[in-house]
Amino acid sequence: MPTISFEGKSIEVTKGANLKKALKKANLSPYNGISSILNCHGIGSCGTCAVAVSGLTSEPTKIEKWRLNFPPHKTSNKLRLACQVKILGDVKIQKFDGFWGNIKR
Ligand code: FES
Repeated sequence: MPTISFEGKSIEVTKGANLKKALKKANLSPYNGISSILNCHGIGSCGTCAVAVSGLTSEPTKIEKWRLNFPPHKTSNKLRLACQVKILGDVKIQKFDGFWGNIKR
């Protein structure tokens, strides 16, 4: 089973699991602060669930590509939207600062 590593924790998930749902099920969050309430609930339009992902995942969806090329995001940040990502192998996740999680520390 693939493992998600995030904030010092490791979560085992089934292959193909949705990243946002897997984090929430483990009481972890891809959101910062108030964006945990003020978000699009996973349709890929708000961009607040953006995280850095390394490891084997699904390809970016069409709406994900669109949203991550729209301010304050930019494609060069190479982030992913947790609500759009399917886990295909072991992954490491990092969340940056700010409402949209786009401010690198
Ligand atoms: S929850 Fe809005 S883009 Fe992921």
